[in-house]
Amino acid sequence: MWCDAFAERVTRDRELRDLTSVRVGGRALFFVEPASDEQMGAVLAALSAEGLGYRVLGGGSNLLPPDGEIREVILHPGAMRGFAAVGEEVRVQAGLSLASMVARANGLGLAGVHVLAGIPGQVGGAVVMNAGGRYGEIGPLVKRVHVRLDDGSAESIDGNDMGFAYRQSELPEGAVVTSVVLGLDPTDDPGALRRESGRIIKEKNAAQPTTSRNFGCMFKNSDGRSAGILVEEAGLKGLVQGDARISPQHGNFIENMGGAKARDVLALIERAETVVLERFGVRLEREVRVWNS
Ligand code: EPU
Repeated sequence: MWCDAFAERVTRDRELRDLTSVRVGGRALFFVEPASDEQMGAVLAALSAEGLGYRVLGGGSNLLPPDGEIREVILHPGAMRGFAAVGEEVRVQAGLSLASMVARANGLGLAGVHVLAGIPGQVGGAVVMNAGGRYGEIGPLVKRVHVRLDDGSAESIDGNDMGFAYRQSELPEGAVVTSVVLGLDPTDDPGALRRESGRIIKEKNAAQPTTSRNFGCMFKNSDGRSAGILVEEAGLKGLVQGDARISPQHGNFIENMGGAKARDVLALIERAETVVLERFGVRLEREVRVWNS
């Protein structure tokens, strides 16, 4: 069987709700945590040889997996957490958390990623989604992205060819990010970077429900319009479906109040889309990736 060669890296029947920030998601029949770029390639090659489908779950902060049994093999780069600085560049593996990367870079006085403080998730997902906030995005810092293609082969993509745009990038279909090279600015003041990151986190904590189980913003702010304000003006803040609700604090957040199901969360997403379209003629664009069941 395809997984015999990686048996120690495979978990059967893994509950994905334990791995998503909204704490929702069904049970993956096969969950694989490759230890290295090479092993990610070997797993992909084995899956490809058997014609098996897969999906990548990184930090799980922008994902809504379905309830129930998930038959696609789930690849998780969480064991690949390397960080190495060489001069102005850092090479970071896909499974390192964004928060750890920011802390490490700040500690070395390397400026650039300090503005990403407070954003959840892992480096690979952050690059795929071009994660960012008010003070900047990761895309402009990216010099190279190392990926494994769906047949397991390695490819390296120049940052300028990544097609970075607001919360999106362009990668070959099925490509899995394994590591990233970022270009940062050396400073001699790690303390100043830490203070600025701390200030950004404080600002977020005041404006957003950062302690509840949620996946950050559900919708993009398309055409410069705040999705949170649109949902608020549509009168949907606090709307409850099962154990899920639209945050009473911020209209662009859905919270899991306990045992929410993916279908509850999806019902709220669809309700917000429908009402905002009816009331304001605006088609909300999802930032959260909803996996089909
Ligand atoms: N606001 C309301 N009502 C709401 C929500 C927001 O009046 O229900 C107001 C706020 O008071 C504020 C303005 O709308 O004056 C903007 O809100 P906020 O500062 O929370 O920013 P946002 O535009 O909703 C964006 C990003 C966030 C990021 C913040 C801060 C998107 C979709 N969202 O949110 O990113 O954290 O700026 O940098 O781009 C994410 O992508 O998951 C995310 C949370």
